[in-house]
Amino acid sequence: MANPGTPAPHGSPITVCEVGPRDGFQNEKTFIPTARKIEIVNAMFVAGVRHIQVTSFVSPRAVPQLVDAAEVIAGINRPDGSTVSALIPNLKGAERAAAAGVDAVHTVVSASETHNLKNVNRSIDQSLRDFEAVTTLMHRDGIVVEGGMATAFGCPFEGIVPPEQVARIAKRYQDLGAKRVSLGDTTGMATPATVKAAIQAIRAEAPGVEICLHFHNTRGVGLACVMTGLSEGVTYYDASIGGLGGCPFAAGATGNICTEDLVYLLQESGYQTGIDLAAITEAARMTQDTLGRDLPGQILKAGPRLRRYDAHLTATAEG
Ligand code: COA
Ligand code: ZN
Repeated sequence: MANPGTPAPHGSPITVCEVGPRDGFQNEKTFIPTARKIEIVNAMFVAGVRHIQVTSFVSPRAVPQLVDAAEVIAGINRPDGSTVSALIPNLKGAERAAAAGVDAVHTVVSASETHNLKNVNRSIDQSLRDFEAVTTLMHRDGIVVEGGMATAFGCPFEGIVPPEQVARIAKRYQDLGAKRVSLGDTTGMATPATVKAAIQAIRAEAPGVEICLHFHNTRGVGLACVMTGLSEGVTYYDASIGGLGGCPFAAGATGNICTEDLVYLLQESGYQTGIDLAAITEAARMTQDTLGRDLPGQILKAGPRLRRYDAHLTATAEG
């Protein structure tokens, strides 16, 4: 991790955590066959991704698409040094995730009361209290806890979410022993200014806690927010293959920032991701074919910057 508050130096490693199989797939109405989910996750590993949020252990009534969570985890080829994580809303989810053999869990609480109620049917304080038993259990089993915070940059029901509220929850997570806190921009309300304010509030209230940034590109400024994160020294980012994603319990939620687009930006800016751009773009194409519709990712459409076209096959202007 770079020194908090100083820009991540060029050439430094940046972690790109792939969340498409969870944040993306959870919104898909048509069931994606388990074997296909496994193939897509394996293609991500082959491309060099080492952190993947593979699924959720939530109520299958809330998210029917992810009913096969344990089967997917059992079926994937996990390379050495990889981290397989899953989202969990409660102790029952934590127990299921541990039994399935995850390396990490991503707990979920919202920074706004209304969204937390919609998403997990309890108050913020109730959720955080529940995580005391969750972290105890996870740490006993050597499982990393990442403290997830939805609506960290704004709530579709309540509007502005004060940075002090984000910092307060981050501090609770730090006290619980979470390895990092993940600031989720559930409905794409983050801007470079709000990102900077939230990071600085956390650094003041919970110094030392690692920060993950999880942006959605709803309003087209997702990668600009990443640049702000880098300039504040944040080295851990979530992204989703092809730009899939969105929360089924938040009005107007759309895709995450796109993994290939993020990898392209980071590599062209001199950072190391360990991810092969061509191979991850192929995994995105596989995902796009599976879902049968165009995904929003830009690299998927345009290819890399130095893609060359045959001049003979391109029309010449006349007149
Ligand atoms: N995994 C599987 N089943 C679960 C579960 C879990 N983690 N947690 C609860 N359940 C089951 C219970 O066993 C119970 O089943 P039953 O009715 O057959 O006995 C049922 O769900 C209701 O349990 P309860 O504890 O009363 O939960 P709830 O109705 O208050 O729902 C959540 C709370 C959190 C379980 C549910 O809202 C949920 O799973 N939400 C998913 C949120 C999500 O994934 N959001 C997207 C990411 S931001
Ligand atoms: Zn998300």
